[in-house]
Amino acid sequence: MSERHPMTLHRLKQMHAVGEKISMLTCYDAAFARLLDESGVDALLVGDSLGMVVQGHATTLPVTMAQSVYHTECVTRANRFSWVITDMPFGSYQGTIEQAIEHAAQLMKAGAHMVKLEGGAWAAPLVRALVERGIPVCGHLGFTPQSVFSLGGYRIQGRDAVAVQVLQADALALEAAGASLLVLELLPATVARSLTSQLSIPVIGIGAGSGCSGQVLVLHDMLGVSGGRQPRFVRNFMQGQNDIRAAVQCYVADVKSGRFPDDTLHGY
Ligand code: KIV
Repeated sequence: MSERHPMTLHRLKQMHAVGEKISMLTCYDAAFARLLDESGVDALLVGDSLGMVVQGHATTLPVTMAQSVYHTECVTRANRFSWVITDMPFGSYQGTIEQAIEHAAQLMKAGAHMVKLEGGAWAAPLVRALVERGIPVCGHLGFTPQSVFSLGGYRIQGRDAVAVQVLQADALALEAAGASLLVLELLPATVARSLTSQLSIPVIGIGAGSGCSGQVLVLHDMLGVSGGRQPRFVRNFMQGQNDIRAAVQCYVADVKSGRFPDDTLHGY
């Protein structure tokens, strides 16, 4: 087996170029960071989903900068090889570009390799400003949880031609501004596949079908510990496994081989 090296942006781009699927999971603490890293997960997302799965809020909106810094530090202390992305929490990048740069810098000082932010063309100048300052950016389009109240709930996006056109323009604007990764959430599989094919940067899907360059799931969802009714696109990887490590290894293997996700179960 070849020696493992810390993941880089260059390597993620190479994987995308040769069609190797990228595996990503959310991660919020050191114990899981160690386990996920050792299990070969390519990228760990310190997602603001921590507000829901760790803190018990109904949405991601209450998550603060201090909490995002704290969880990033927890994860990066234990991680060795995986690429670490931290979500910019709600309110940390909607003000001036200067404020957003300061907040992104705090997350990078905490050990993140890249920040993620939700938003389309309006966010392009901010993405450019961050990238120019040496901060890699991951965009997030489709269902954007920080806009849950504007979007009218947890709803599938990209349902009609106009919405698809807006998504296309947003994705291309983020790529042109220098984003080097894009998350697409809750989109019809055909729409996500088409968007992925129009971009040169890797696209990571969640509830967006199999046509993306990689997949991300919320860790607690794929371990079956989130409680409540899960969306159809979530698979409980603990089923048929004896322990968490085996479940995570199965997730990585299934993303890499294309066994996950299964578009016949996607449902939209
Ligand atoms: O916060 C998060 O976990 C996310 C994923 C749903 C992509 O943004």
